[in-house]
Amino acid sequence: MNDLMEIIKGRKSVRTFDGEQVSDEHRRLLEKYIKEITNPFDIPVEFVLMDAKENGLSSPVLSGEPMYVAGKVSKKPYADVAFGYAFEKLVLYAWSLGIGTVLIGGTMKRENFEKAAGLKEGEMMPCVSPLGYPAAKKSLKDIMMRKGIGADSRMPGEKLFFDGSWGNPLKSDETMEEILEMVRWAPSAVNKQPWRIIVKDGIRHFYEKKDRGYTGDATGDLQKIDVGIALCHFVMGLEDKGMSVNISVADPGIEIPQDAEYIASAEIQKI
Ligand SMILES: Cc1cc2nc3c(=O)[nH]c(=O)nc-3n(C[C@H](O)[C@H](O)[C@H](O)COP(=O)(O)O)c2cc1C
Repeated sequence: MNDLMEIIKGRKSVRTFDGEQVSDEHRRLLEKYIKEITNPFDIPVEFVLMDAKENGLSSPVLSGEPMYVAGKVSKKPYADVAFGYAFEKLVLYAWSLGIGTVLIGGTMKRENFEKAAGLKEGEMMPCVSPLGYPAAKKSLKDIMMRKGIGADSRMPGEKLFFDGSWGNPLKSDETMEEILEMVRWAPSAVNKQPWRIIVKDGIRHFYEKKDRGYTGDATGDLQKIDVGIALCHFVMGLEDKGMSVNISVADPGIEIPQDAEYIASAEIQKI
């Protein structure tokens, strides 16, 4: 991918498409990339490409989308985090090709998508996304929706990244500042940005700051998907700078608020 920071900060959810089919070349590249997507939790996430018209698929927030991609994962602990991580890789790659996406976890007739994607017992399909080329002009409902959610802004770093203990703002060096900027700009359900990082003894511990109403049997915990997306930006950012990151799950036992949950820890291997 070209300049990762540019892709991450330049990407916006696309809800208004120009109605054109995804080109054969782009479809081929997407299919190839999908096969290579992994995640640190080794939980396979399967992607299914579906023609919108052929399958009668639509969403009230979208217009002009020629196709969709659905993600499926076995229901198990960390399935939602793995799902977010893997789906975000696809989202960023698609954007680098000029293809727009938006994760849709709520605003669609879920049964239709689950049927078209061939969802099986024991699996969940938390979100789908349209795939297509952005229209030159956004629809009014798209503009209103972005405004309502505040989609063009994010919380400041001091509310998200902490030093040693929850709530103590982190002052980071230049390299990490860029990486954290990538994390800050991650997309999330209703733009809630529920990820928090505490840096302790050189290890970055990721947490979920929970809001009510984001968990269901069909979706898992949408805010864990968000944390998976943020983690993906963190790892991709470091890898882009030639570093490697080891992700593990071992709660360090740092005191956190009641509405927070430990998710994973990241150790940078080479700097
Ligand atoms: C897990 C998840 C679920 C989402 N579900 C929906 C949805 O159901 N409908 C919708 O219009 N947007 C949905 N979004 C898109 C967010 O509203 C959007 O990413 C956020 O407002 C930030 O805007 P941006 O992606 O343009 O940066 C979802 C995003 C995520 C990460």
